[in-house]
Amino acid sequence: MDVLCHDTTLGPAAGGIRMWPYQNEYEAIQDAVRLARGMTYKNAAAGLPFGGGKCVIIGDPQKDKTEGLLRAMGRFIHRLGGLFLTGIDVGTTLQDMVLMRLETPYVVTLPESLGGPGNSAVATSFGIFQGIRACLKEVFGSPLPQGRNIAVQGIGAVGNELVKYLLDAGAVVTIADIDQHKVDALASEYKVNVVPPEKIHTLDVDVYSPCAMGAVLNEHTIPELGCKIVCGSANNQLATEQDGDRLAQRGILYAPDYIVSAGGVISGLDSLQPGGFNRQRSIETVSHIYRTMGNVIAISKEQGIPTYRAADVLAEQRIATIRQVKSLAM
Ligand code: NAI
Ligand code: PHE
Repeated sequence: MDVLCHDTTLGPAAGGIRMWPYQNEYEAIQDAVRLARGMTYKNAAAGLPFGGGKCVIIGDPQKDKTEGLLRAMGRFIHRLGGLFLTGIDVGTTLQDMVLMRLETPYVVTLPESLGGPGNSAVATSFGIFQGIRACLKEVFGSPLPQGRNIAVQGIGAVGNELVKYLLDAGAVVTIADIDQHKVDALASEYKVNVVPPEKIHTLDVDVYSPCAMGAVLNEHTIPELGCKIVCGSANNQLATEQDGDRLAQRGILYAPDYIVSAGGVISGLDSLQPGGFNRQRSIETVSHIYRTMGNVIAISKEQGIPTYRAADVLAEQRIATIRQVKSLAM
């Protein structure tokens, strides 16, 4: 296991714990570095007083998780004395957080019964929904999803909730997941179209929403995209920065992942406010993602740069300002 604090200019580093069967330590550390940087930018762009970090555990979350492992993780995080605040990510659950909380208070995604937000994927999907609305406004002149065709890749914790927001808003939704049970369960309850996982990114749709794993936007997939907008929750969707340029060259509006997927961390960190977690306040803060995505589009147009760069400019400007403020003599 490894905790990586990427930047603490804005405050203590906040980021989730990912458990994944990495091939080796090098691969795990490489992922931690990329994910931790993403959290620095995510928290900065969301206006949070927190820096970025991430924790990775090498192992199969289905087989290798034990109470001992999670409590040892909790003790390790406790030794950092509040420099790192954590929550769920791929491969970890609310129940895991409850075990870690026995060893440290520096865990922010907890069940409602313990004063936390509960399943943070609900807030994340609401943020993605706001990001989609902002992109629709830019491309079609109206933020309304009604009648728009939207393809959701991955119907796990986030994708499943997102599909419900989209259907409620009158969108026409197509889904794909490598887990056939999840597909069958959702399709039996809601009116959605289903395609095989390898087809979902190629569909001729208004929005393609990657809500599975990272690096799905790469030199092979980008030429195959049939959408006008890419907006989803998966962390690190661009395999390389050149892929952000490729999307712009194809005239596809890309919603930078860390801009639109901040809902989960926003809701988790809300529980640290005086008086504890407040759902109304947290939802209100997540809804600002609509405005933030609009700002990213505006910077992109003003400066003639792709949206992934515009998002970096937004985040880096805030970090630079606060760094300057913190250097002032008191
Ligand atoms: P999850 O593990 O619940 O769901 C991911 C889903 O994607 C699973 O159903 C899986 O079967 C499916 N999947 C995997 N590979 C696929 C493929 N090639 N094609 C189609 N489906 C595939 O994860 P969760 O929590 O929904 O997160 C999804 C993404 O969003 C992850 O990248 C995560 O890092 C990111 N994210 C999640 C947040 C949260 O609050 N849960 C917050 C911010 C980002
Ligand atoms: N998994 C969340 C994300 O990638 C991170 C998170 C951190 C969530 C801390 C809650 C609390 O944004």
